[in-house]
Amino acid sequence: TISPAHAAPDAPPLPVAHRGASGYAPENTLAAVDAAHDLGVAWVENDVQRTRDGELVVVHDATLGRTTDVEEVFPDRAPWRVADFTAAEIARLDAGSWFGPRYAGERVPTLEQFLRHMNRTGQNLLLEIKRPELYPGIEADVLRELRSEGWLDRRHVRDKLVVQSFGADSVRAVHDQAPAVRTGFLGTPEPAELPEYARFTDQINPPHTTLSEEYVRRVHALEGAHGRPLEVFTWTVNDAGTARRVADMGVDGIISNVPDVVRDAVSPA
Ligand code: G3P
Ligand code: CA
Repeated sequence: TISPAHAAPDAPPLPVAHRGASGYAPENTLAAVDAAHDLGVAWVENDVQRTRDGELVVVHDATLGRTTDVEEVFPDRAPWRVADFTAAEIARLDAGSWFGPRYAGERVPTLEQFLRHMNRTGQNLLLEIKRPELYPGIEADVLRELRSEGWLDRRHVRDKLVVQSFGADSVRAVHDQAPAVRTGFLGTPEPAELPEYARFTDQINPPHTTLSEEYVRRVHALEGAHGRPLEVFTWTVNDAGTARRVADMGVDGIISNVPDVVRDAVSPA
């Protein structure tokens, strides 16, 4: 069975598949979404950026070399920035072979393809706007795509979607342009700054290395942008010991390449 959409106050933290279940399938592909689904993991984290011709694509790095065969297909286009390629060019790339031969032919999905796939699997999306400073106005583009695929409908907005970013201005822009959408800030703001973040976010999502029980308590003491206690989803936790440690601190979600390991570690015996 698929885990629930929200963490209940006394329930274990929700596992979130980082870039899809990227420990088992190539990150940010439809195969990684399916791998999370096969594990019964409801929440999937992914990264979105923008092509030269304005298409939104699901990919993590600013350049395409690590996770595709771009250097073979377009040898003269170093440093192979996402922003320098058209969507049609990116659609030609193999985004799976680097991970393993059985994933040959996986593509870099467009956000549209990705959302349509998620609509079929029924999973929930923690969508990261990656490097917003490189893509002025990307928030409106992302919201337009989310709206056209039904993700701003009432039930989706309430239960199935969070948009996060390391860029506070980007998170604020999402909140201002679509106030119903839940948002997360990636980072560890100083405790004194948390009330300001709580005006436009529902989650504060720090790396696990910066977390303490006291910090989680301070975040939880505040009400987020939608009137519920501000949540903490931490990353990237890939072992059972760390998962138990952050669960004991009281986090609400744990973002992991191996979300099944996390789920098993934090489930009551
Ligand atoms: O969701 C948190 C995590 O994805 C942030 O780091 O570099 O994997 O996008 P990164
Ligand atoms: Ca990410």
